[in-house]
Amino acid sequence: MNNNVFVFDHPLIQHKISLLRDKNTSSKEFRELTSEISMLMGYEVTRDIPLKEVEIETPIGLAKTKVISGKKLAFVPILRAGLGMVDGMLKLVPMARVGHIGLYRDHETLEPVEYYCKLPPDVRERDVVLLDPMLATAGSACDAVKFIKDYGAKSIKFVCLIASKHGIERLNREHPDVGIYCAAVDEKLNDIGYIVPGLGDAGDRLFGTK
Ligand code: PRP
Ligand code: URA
Repeated sequence: MNNNVFVFDHPLIQHKISLLRDKNTSSKEFRELTSEISMLMGYEVTRDIPLKEVEIETPIGLAKTKVISGKKLAFVPILRAGLGMVDGMLKLVPMARVGHIGLYRDHETLEPVEYYCKLPPDVRERDVVLLDPMLATAGSACDAVKFIKDYGAKSIKFVCLIASKHGIERLNREHPDVGIYCAAVDEKLNDIGYIVPGLGDAGDRLFGTK
């Protein structure tokens, strides 16, 4: 696997991914699990945030210690399903800004269609963390990354729950500068572009639509 790709093997994440895959998991549980896994992944995704030294007065004396240096983050969910990952990330970094990109896959062509895009105006100065539970053909992720780059963003990470091998290869090929973070890599796509075994339609399972 390319060293731009991080697969989370933490037991808590793996356990929760198994529950998420289960077709008997309810929408309520699916939302809770998505949020919990996102928070656990966020811990690792933010590992390289730069720190600076400060002096803090404790009740006993002066401590030389570290705080986040002010590097700014933007979480950008791909609508709809990416929304399920936002609150877990915001629990870790409540000061981050949130942008939104609306894309859906045309069921005939499997190509992504953009219907909404609103990003923080200073997105070029922020580290962007793009969120979508599924990386299948990677059409949506590649388009979303392109939109964000067109807005001037220079630092982008893509965080998903389940990725297909094909999706990872395509996103890596089209955007080799974008780090890919996922909790599972599945072998195959079926003939309508769903990840096999995957977890089904993430948006429908999150929001109880069908
Ligand atoms: C799903 C998923 C991704 C996309 C992945 O969204 O959330 O955005 O498909 O597939 P791809 O890698 O082949 O592009 P969908 O288009 O079903 O829209 P939704 O979130 O509104 O349900
Ligand atoms: N979108 C989903 O929600 N699930 C898949 O398996 C593929 C794309």
